[in-house]
Amino acid sequence: MIVPPPSGLVDDVVALRLWLPSDFAQRFAGFRDPQCLEFSWPLVEEFTEDHLRRRFVQEEAERVRGEAINLAIVDAADSQRVWGGASIYDVESNEGRAAVGYWLSAPARGRGIASRAVRLLARWAFTDLTIMRLALTCAPDNLASRRVAERCDFVEEGLMRSHTPFQGRRRDTLLFSLLPNELRPVTSS
Ligand SMILES: CC(C)(COP(=O)(O)OP(=O)(O)OC[C@H]1O[C@@H](n2cnc3c(N)ncnc32)[C@H](O)[C@@H]1OP(=O)(O)O)[C@@H](O)C(=O)NCCC(=O)NCCS
Repeated sequence: MIVPPPSGLVDDVVALRLWLPSDFAQRFAGFRDPQCLEFSWPLVEEFTEDHLRRRFVQEEAERVRGEAINLAIVDAADSQRVWGGASIYDVESNEGRAAVGYWLSAPARGRGIASRAVRLLARWAFTDLTIMRLALTCAPDNLASRRVAERCDFVEEGLMRSHTPFQGRRRDTLLFSLLPNELRPVTSS
């Protein structure tokens, strides 16, 4: 089971907390956005409320099994205001490896919020989850996500060709990684 730290995951602007059932509408509306669907929705079929309901259940099961943790990115000043989601997934504790993922609702973009969330998650992963290598992957044409990786000091390792089944085809994937000594302070952006 992966449990968020008792002290919270928070900086001056953003906080990360477990998703609540009451977040459903904000999560659905935030993710059902052209950019999120283009880059983060892998299926051909339309993203529906049913998919999200099932995600809530699957995510909790993954968390209990210690495989992943999905968190809401919220306003540090108002924990009911959801800006997006972030996760640590593909957790392999014995090997000290995990990956980080994120998305933001359209109004939350352009303020460095994703970078803040990634840094908070990376610091926690390196400090408390015994992770020694954090991976970040994105589509090569996802320029905003590539910038998040760069802003958080991830190192680009290369292009994995035909890596991901995505929306009825196979897609290339760019691979980045971050090691503990490469992480800058959470407060710098
Ligand atoms: C990826 C995402 C979370 C980034 O959010 P964000 O950090 O607020 O993004 P920003 O709007 O600040 O953009 C990040 C950077 O990319 C740049 N950028 C954004 N869109 C761009 C584009 N189409 N072309 C070139 N640069 C772009 C921004 O100018 C910014 O640059 P800066 O760091 O120099 O200021 C957000 O775009 C998103 O939710 N996308 C949809 C879901 C997604 O792609 N998730 C990641 C899957 S790997």
